Amino acid sequence: MPGLADPPSGDGGARAGDPPRHYLTVASLSPDDFARLISLARRMKEEPAAWRRALPGGRLAMIFDKPSTRTRVSFEAAAVNLGMHPLMLRPDELQIGRGEPPQDTARVLSRMVDAIAWRTFSQARLETFASHCSIPVLNALTDEHHPCQALADLMTIEETIGSLAGRRLAYIGDGNNVAHSLVEAGALAGMHVVLAVPEGYDPDPAIVAAARDRGRQTGATIEIVRKPADAARDADAVYTDVWTSMGEEKEREAREQAFRGYTVTPTLMDLARPGAIFLHCLPAHRGEEVDEAVLEGPRSRVWDEAENRLWTEQAALYALITGDWRGDLAR
Ligand code: CP
Ligand code: NVA
Repeated sequence: MPGLADPPSGDGGARAGDPPRHYLTVASLSPDDFARLISLARRMKEEPAAWRRALPGGRLAMIFDKPSTRTRVSFEAAAVNLGMHPLMLRPDELQIGRGEPPQDTARVLSRMVDAIAWRTFSQARLETFASHCSIPVLNALTDEHHPCQALADLMTIEETIGSLAGRRLAYIGDGNNVAHSLVEAGALAGMHVVLAVPEGYDPDPAIVAAARDRGRQTGATIEIVRKPADAARDADAVYTDVWTSMGEEKEREAREQAFRGYTVTPTLMDLARPGAIFLHCLPAHRGEEVDEAVLEGPRSRVWDEAENRLWTEQAALYALITGDWRGDLAR
């Protein structure tokens, strides 16, 4: 590991010569590893001071091809919390922005830093990049997936409501990157995920089919319905995301038409179980996918959810770099 003066090692730890473990999709994790990351994140949140020198001298490179508030700040803060040095690399200042192949950048950065977080457009491009890295790569959002978000989402459900298995998670809106990662996460955690999406905006059928396969082991189910009420009824958590994701701005008007009736309102929330919570990855558009009264209301956990990005990113960085998924070695 290039920057780490004294990397943790021991049983379960990464060893020199091991191929790196990346976090590019939720589905790449086993149910046990997914649960371990949430549990590690919760321990980090409870005892923040215990991890301050977990990865002294480590370096995290971050590249963001799209805007970000939560992801970039949570990765940067998580790295600092672990004793690492974050390097924010603006794509317009890198040679990658002038056409240097990602696989060349991958091999160069692998000689200089200990992990890379990249937010970009195509998942395939991220996967090619990662396949040329000898250090862990974390997906900071692509057009198809947002795996770091899903970790924080399920952590928030677990810490608010309790164990995840058997819970009903309603997702209202676009079958987008956030929906894909939630479907995959729900499948690992044995949840019942019900998506209410307008026709033409379904999640990728291959992702849904793979999640249903996984559900045969974990007890999870994935259902797609058209009416928001059919998803929200008896839900333990109701989730939504923007109707127009980054990169889709030209479709905004058509999407506003298509998603009419898909706003999460107090009336929709009333169909959920008593004690149900509202989640949103943020940024939110009040009056579009969610009403102000829900976002700012007593059932909203969106600020905890945003904070949990920090703890889950910290847990993922630590586990991927050290191979210590239980957090036994740093304390
Ligand atoms: N939820 C999320 O990823 O937010 P940012 O785009 O601000 O990182
Ligand atoms: N689906 C949204 C998520 C933003 C965090 C987008 O890709 O823009």
